[in-house]
Amino acid sequence: MCGIVGYVGKKRATNFLIDGLSKLEYRGYDSAGVAVENDGKVTVVKHKGRLSNLSDDLDKNVLEGTVGIGHTRWATHGEPSDINSHPHKSSKGNITVVHNGIIENYLELRKWLKEQGYEFKSQTDTEVVPNLIHYYYEGDLFKAVVKATERLEGSYALGVICGDDPDKVVAVRKDSPLIVGLGEGETFIASDIPAVISYTRNVYLLDDNEFVLVTRDGAEVLNSDGSKIDKEVYKVTWSADAAEKGGYDSFMMKEIHEQPKAIRDTLTGKISNNGVSFEGFNLTKEDLDGVDRVYIVACGTAYHAGLMGKVAIEKFAKIPVEVDIASEFRYREPLVTNKTLLITVSQSGETADTLAVLRDCKKIGAKTLAITNVVGSTISREADNVIYTMAGPEIAVASTKAYTTQVVVMNLIGMYFGQLMGSLTNESAKELEEALTLLPEKIEEVLAKKEELEEVAKILAKEQDVFFLGRGVDYALALEGSLKLKEITYIHSEAYAGGELKHGPIALIEEGTKVIALLTQTKLREKMVSNIVEVKARGAETIGVAYEGDEIDESVFNKIVRIPKVLNMVAPVVAAVSLQLLAYYTAKEKNFDIDKPRNLAKSVTVE
Ligand code: G6P
Repeated sequence: MCGIVGYVGKKRATNFLIDGLSKLEYRGYDSAGVAVENDGKVTVVKHKGRLSNLSDDLDKNVLEGTVGIGHTRWATHGEPSDINSHPHKSSKGNITVVHNGIIENYLELRKWLKEQGYEFKSQTDTEVVPNLIHYYYEGDLFKAVVKATERLEGSYALGVICGDDPDKVVAVRKDSPLIVGLGEGETFIASDIPAVISYTRNVYLLDDNEFVLVTRDGAEVLNSDGSKIDKEVYKVTWSADAAEKGGYDSFMMKEIHEQPKAIRDTLTGKISNNGVSFEGFNLTKEDLDGVDRVYIVACGTAYHAGLMGKVAIEKFAKIPVEVDIASEFRYREPLVTNKTLLITVSQSGETADTLAVLRDCKKIGAKTLAITNVVGSTISREADNVIYTMAGPEIAVASTKAYTTQVVVMNLIGMYFGQLMGSLTNESAKELEEALTLLPEKIEEVLAKKEELEEVAKILAKEQDVFFLGRGVDYALALEGSLKLKEITYIHSEAYAGGELKHGPIALIEEGTKVIALLTQTKLREKMVSNIVEVKARGAETIGVAYEGDEIDESVFNKIVRIPKVLNMVAPVVAAVSLQLLAYYTAKEKNFDIDKPRNLAKSVTVE
């Protein structure tokens, strides 16, 4: 969740550290700090609050030095404060550390280190790490880091510098992402590629328990015994612009507008005259025949896309599917066997709970398929099969283009399984193919009318509670629309299945309560209208989202947002764009920081 960076080069280290952190701020933004080594002296500067607090300070108080590490924090242990911010320094000596992850046995280590005479200033789990490294330090930083990590339990990506062993950064990862950027006369470490993309396209994607010795001349990737690992250089293909706002006021708005392209790119190469196919896919009809159950497991928005996947696979392939939240699935006793197919959905490919489920299921021998947006992410590397959403880097915390491309992929998987099982008619396949291919232009139509949603947002911005209702796939979409609204506007909102309303939630409806009703499922439309009539009778103010041209009793709605008519199965993709815009404009109306909503982080790499 936190972002870490490191630099060894010939230029002033803080130039890269601040720029790199600005590209990683989506990972956490409650404090930030850097440590720079210069002539054997390490200086730490850190501040509570946004990265700008730190960069303003460094503008005034320039830190010279060409070796450094930096951190942007999403607090776990200890409130956001200057003291709890990273980097953390050993109480003796000169070892300085940035950390992403959680050291689970920190209390025990802290107690032991105190007995060895070390002192602690912060409430963080991280502070044990520099002290432990110092305890083992005998003139070789790499060896000391190896020894210290032998005693750490939990997850970590670490960047370490030491004034007594200068001109290098030692880094290591276990269950937290870390990459190395290979420049000319300068080398970088970072939690994610966007931090280094304007400096180099050549990176190493580190695996768990790999150490790296970073110097000006490059990076040596090492096992804990010091033996060298022959690491392949991964060439980043996307451009640096992908990690910039490109004229929009926020990454979220930019990413909302990128959806037509993202969907086009996701579909490319997956649909042909022979139907749907996925590159490098090794799931056969025999595999599917032998599958005892299919689980789709994910977190947050990706879980909502998973709910769509269940409908698509059951509808087209007639295979029953269960969908679960990763943090729940891993701690119940799911009936996973070596005949189970696990489908994980994860934009980042790094979410701790989703990754843990993948690993647990692999241990049992289950077949695994990952849908992810990040090439080289841990989940993409560990799953047996991977389908990439081609959304490009998603920086805003609230997921938009990753979600709609995930829903597209879910439909493609349903079709693919349907083809294999012989349960998808040519007619349905054709109809779906056409509908998917038309999605980019239908989304353009929604975007062209975005001002209409700006008006609705003015009404919502004054509310404290908003309800979303839907049936069928519209219920899954209602969950996502509601999540989007709460994530960035802090308005309390709930999503309910239309038919469930009478079983309790209707008690919450009173004069003026805002209810957003999704009406894209033709067969269920009249049922939804009945539900709306019921809330309207109890004083609710209703906003409908319906197809253009659908005849609906307009008197039931205070406002109807019309979306282009599309095939019911893909309607959530189009309607999602309206709900994203609604959340965006409401947050804007309330003057909130749209890309960095309070308390959230984009990549949740701790459980
Ligand atoms: C965080 C993000 C959400 C995201 C979820 C799962 O909570 O803020 O936008 O849906 O993690 O992330 P993943 O990368 O696994 O899709």
